[in-house]
Amino acid sequence: MTPNQSRQYGVEIIGSGNGLPSRRLTNADLVKMMDTSEEWIIQRTGIEERRLCDWDSGEKTSVLAAQALQTAIDDAGITPADIDLIVVATMTPDMPTPTVSCLVASKIGCDGVPAFDFNAACSGFVFSISTVHELLKGGMFKTVALIGADCLTQYIDYSTAGRTASILFGDAASAIILRRTDDTSKGLIAHAMHTDGAGSSILLIPGSRSDHPDPENCEDREVKRVYMNGPMVFKFAVKKFPEVIQETLDLAGLEADDVDHYICHQANARILEAARKRFGLHEDKLRININKYGNTVAASCPLVFNELCKDGSIKPGQRVMFIAFGAGLTWGASLWQL
Ligand code: ACO
Repeated sequence: MTPNQSRQYGVEIIGSGNGLPSRRLTNADLVKMMDTSEEWIIQRTGIEERRLCDWDSGEKTSVLAAQALQTAIDDAGITPADIDLIVVATMTPDMPTPTVSCLVASKIGCDGVPAFDFNAACSGFVFSISTVHELLKGGMFKTVALIGADCLTQYIDYSTAGRTASILFGDAASAIILRRTDDTSKGLIAHAMHTDGAGSSILLIPGSRSDHPDPENCEDREVKRVYMNGPMVFKFAVKKFPEVIQETLDLAGLEADDVDHYICHQANARILEAARKRFGLHEDKLRININKYGNTVAASCPLVFNELCKDGSIKPGQRVMFIAFGAGLTWGASLWQL
């Protein structure tokens, strides 16, 4: 394909859909597995339950991602043959290679179509939606499938020793279909993307003892398990979340109230409430659905987007801002005119 350098296009989001695992893990279930309480989890995080892959029945990242994409294709009223690029934002591929996107392409019947994965942890969907926009805007592609898919619970220690991180995460996939359009008023208005590798040691999955922030005291059970310094991540998030919202509003020359929906990474209800208060936003402008799914990493923002589309809250012509932060450290926002 040759990009048409002579013109620029608008970009519209024409469909969305989820792929959710069958198993539910409630706070009551967690109480049976470790020293915790339903009250503690609700009060500190806002989470009531999360979905978990049933690994024995074959649920995994590529399977959920393909389900999400098929649902989004149906929602958009297109066929797999219309898609000319598949991008999967994930930090939990089924295996190091092939990519999740290649497996999804095959499952959906899109063999031969370019496909690649994009890893920016919980910021993966937000970083990739801005990137994909530019590929569409320049004319390189016409219809792109973008999927946020993560099954992080495979790296979780469900014992009391891992209780700070284990209560937070759930598995999920959620997809959107983006299409270029001649209406140049639609698409990305402004974006921000940031990383800070110096902060990597507060949130990681050590591949070996030497990756662990305290290698001398790292136990075998901690290798290939989520390590999170909860209070440090919390501090980072409550600072960067409003900062990146303000940065993106400033780039667009808009006020907080000019945006109809803030579609935020669901990491902790308290972090989201703090951002809502900071900008004086009405509840309708910042949806919180962490109670149902927990933190689903790159699937988190599109899960919120799909929910808002399905219940009719999102309407054509509105402005929406996707915002996320995560391991890396990474943080970013992507502001769209629908
Ligand atoms: N149940 C009961 N008690 C617990 C649990 C639990 N599951 N986990 C920790 N505690 C205890 C601790 O042991 C500690 O006890 P102590 O006071 O006797 O020492 C006490 O609760 C307070 O522990 P903190 O870690 O300070 O708890 P905090 O209030 O910070 O809440 C939490 C922990 C919910 C993890 C919070 O820090 C948080 O949400 N951090 C941000 C996490 C986040 O956003 N992660 C996602 C990043 S995105 C990505 O890219 C993966």
